[in-house]
Amino acid sequence: MSKEQDQVFFRNFSLVVGAIAVMMVVFFIVAQFAGNDDEADAKMRAAQVAELTKPVGKVTAVGDEVVEEAPPATPPAGDASGGHPGQAVYDGLCVNCHGIPAMAAMIPQTGDAAAWETRIEKGIDTLYENAINGFTGDMGMMPGKGGNPNLSDDEVKAAVDYMVSQLESGDTAAADTGAASGDVGKTVYDSLCVNCHGVAALAAMIPQTGDAAVWASRIEKGTDTLYTNAINGFTGDLGMMPGKGGNPDLSDDEVKAAVDYMIKQVQ
Ligand code: HEC
Ligand code: HEC
Repeated sequence: MSKEQDQVFFRNFSLVVGAIAVMMVVFFIVAQFAGNDDEADAKMRAAQVAELTKPVGKVTAVGDEVVEEAPPATPPAGDASGGHPGQAVYDGLCVNCHGIPAMAAMIPQTGDAAAWETRIEKGIDTLYENAINGFTGDMGMMPGKGGNPNLSDDEVKAAVDYMVSQLESGDTAAADTGAASGDVGKTVYDSLCVNCHGVAALAAMIPQTGDAAVWASRIEKGTDTLYTNAINGFTGDLGMMPGKGGNPDLSDDEVKAAVDYMIKQVQ
């Protein structure tokens, strides 16, 4: 490798390490946030999340480069409803709050018509403005640009359009599809596990769903071991798998269903 390649590799590697650190912290905070119904406290935590998610902008730039090179590793994430222009931003950031059914009491979830009815009545321009500048309402705090100031206004607007489109075309909403087909595993996977196991750029640090080579030796350990490790957490050669993916509100059965779903993707 030339010196220049070394530098490029080192820069990308640092960003990926940064991405993991940020993600771990976000999941830790989100997990605590989910288990706490004191509103003032919840708002404070949301502010902390906003603060901590700021560097994500740099990470997105790296992710974009790599993900574009290797799209086949991501299809298990499901339903790419015809490549909506706002979906990349949504999947890269907004989904961490708006795609977690366990947080429906604190964050309006994408595809939840009841939660969005009164918001949509405010008019799309108000929604754009609140998503761009931030907004504190009855539920809590929406951080400006989802906490990533590096997003352009147009990128945030496209992500809002995508979220609204998930209500209008009920049949393509990711959350609905899982529930309608009764596939609990897919629903849990799409709402949480995908944030680590469906990010091709992190393949060196997290076993990616659909990557048969990486899963062969894990599957040899037996399904019961995989269930136990996913439920209780596990530290292996690659790094740390947080217990229940960081969401203690999931039942053991929900986590097992998500593991089954992941195993199915390599069989
Ligand atoms: C850290 C968690 C978090 C992230 C990340 C996040 N949101 Fe939100 N968002 C919220 C919360 C909480 C609310 C509800 C605020 C309320 O009504 O109390 C909300 C509300 C909204 C609303 C409705 C605003 C209104 O006027 O009713 C829109 C639109 C929105 N978010 C878009 C986005 C977009 C687009 C992204 C990604 C760029 C994003 N959000 C990322 C937490 C988040
Ligand atoms: C914050 C990132 C993160 C989230 C979220 C996450 N995982 Fe993991 N997971 C990891 C990492 C890292 C490993 C690899 C640990 C190792 O082998 O070094 C892993 C490994 C695993 C393994 C293999 C365990 C073994 O014994 O080899 C299973 C199964 C698994 N995860 C299931 C899940 C499920 C199900 C969810 C959602 C409920 C989930 N993960 C959410 C990071 C995550």
